[in-house]
Parts: sequence; C-alpha cells; structure tokens
Amino acid sequence: MGSRPQGRTLLSPEFSLHNSLTCQQFLNHLQDITVRCCATSQTRRFISHSQDELKQKAAEAAISYIAPKLDRKSIVGVGTGSTANCFIDELAKIRHTFDAAVPSSEATQQRLAAHGITLLDLNATPHLDVYVDGADEIDALGNMIKGGGAALTREKIVASAANEFVCIADDSKLVTRLGAFPLPVEVIPLARSLVARSLVQLGGHPIWREGVTTDNGNIILDVHNLKIEQPLEMERRINDIAGVVCNGIFAQQAAHVAFLARENGITELHSSGSEVPQ
Ligand code: 5RP
Repeated sequence: MGSRPQGRTLLSPEFSLHNSLTCQQFLNHLQDITVRCCATSQTRRFISHSQDELKQKAAEAAISYIAPKLDRKSIVGVGTGSTANCFIDELAKIRHTFDAAVPSSEATQQRLAAHGITLLDLNATPHLDVYVDGADEIDALGNMIKGGGAALTREKIVASAANEFVCIADDSKLVTRLGAFPLPVEVIPLARSLVARSLVQLGGHPIWREGVTTDNGNIILDVHNLKIEQPLEMERRINDIAGVVCNGIFAQQAAHVAFLARENGITELHSSGSEVPQ
C-alpha cells in the first residue's frame, strides 16, 4: 500500500513517455532540455537587466530634476521599491547638498542609513520639499496604483507632507486606465473578511497576500478586476470601508511630475497631462 514498485526507478512523466528510447536518444533528449533551460534563463536575465537599466535611468532623471532645487535645509521624502532603491543610491552621491531624508518604510530607512544619509522622523518634520517614489501603474494625469511592496500607507503619509511628488518608473508602468495591476489595500487583520466582502460589492476580486505583514502590523488584500474609472472617487470609497487603513490608489496624492524611462530616452509627464519626451 503506497510502497514503491520493487526494482523500478521512479521517472518523470516526460521520461516515461520516452522509456523506449535508446541510450543515445536519451542523452540527446537531455541535451535538448538543457539547451532550452539555458535559453529561458538567459532570456529572463536579459529582460530583467534591461528593466533595471530603465529604473536606473528614471532615478538619474529625478536626481537631475531635484538637485537644482535642493539647499542645505531641504528635506527629501523617499519611497520604497526597486526603483526607489536606485534613487537612494544616486541621492547618496549628493547627500551633502540637502539636510535630511524621511523614509517611507523600514527597508528604505535601512538603505538610506547605510549610505550615511541623515534621517528624520516625519513627526519632527512638518514640511518636505519633495517626495520621490516608484509606482506599479501611472496614468497620464499622474494618478497611480502603488503598494506592490506593501509600503503604501507610509508612502501616502510621507507623500502628503511633500510639496511635490516625483514619480520614477520604467515606461511599462504607464497605462491609459488604472486597474490591470491588482489594487493593494492595507487592512486591519481583524477586518479581513469584512473588508473583502465590501470590495466584492465594489466589483473587485480581493486576494489575501498571505505571509505578508506591513510595517504597521497589518495585512494586504490585492483587489483584481476592479474597474477604476474615477480614481479619486474609488480611492475615497475604499477608504470609507471600516477596517481599511489605506488603499493603493494615489489620486489625492497624484504625481506632479513623472520620469518614465524607455529604451531610447525619458518621457517627462506633468499632472496637467502634458508630456515632454527627451
Ligand atoms: C511599494 C511601491 C513601489 O513603489 C511600487 O511597488 C513599484 O515598485 P518597483 O519600483 O520595485 O517596481 O508602491 O509599496
């Protein structure tokens, strides 16, 4: 019962289809599989390398944009994620030209500190000159979906204290309508099912991001298939659900300017909807 058949090796279904092959045919078959695996991993490496370069270009564009505006009293709000990490590494190179930074997550705090950038608590800082962060989606008016890295609540808080929101991303994040990326919603754990039912009533399909706890000790529901025709209205409706801490629509805190890196340059978007390709 449940024991292995005696004298037989357990083989993959793929091999058992070929178990009448000669030894040479089997070796050729293995070589073919190996070549296909290498090709796949090389393609993956190529794609992610290219996207990393675009993130880096967007980060550099943001530095060129903010550097002339900074002085020794300036305070910079810093977002979270892989594009924000590129920005932090570039910001470190000009760390003597501004006063301090306010982080939007524990991870960002650690990276800024590792570069020796002075950190400030938001409670000690009523006003930030600028906030720079990535996005999961952005439309032509600067409305965004954020929270792929589960840092949406602190990101929204720090962004709301800043004069200007500068979004940095590769141009795959630019969309005509928000919502293809599942909308992250930070929820008090006790209210998980209650909030999920309300999100279903709004037409979404919430999925609990299991195993993830935010820096604030809460959970994330990722809402699929939500029709976000009016970002500002949807942001407010979701925030009104009891148990929701924050949702990843950034319409109240839309980006003022965005630097979206593409293969052959940067597109600079302004919240008025104007576009400046460079
Ligand atoms: C984290 C965020 C990030 O800004 C967003 O997920 C984009 O991340 P990345 O730059 O890694 O693509 O909102 O909560």
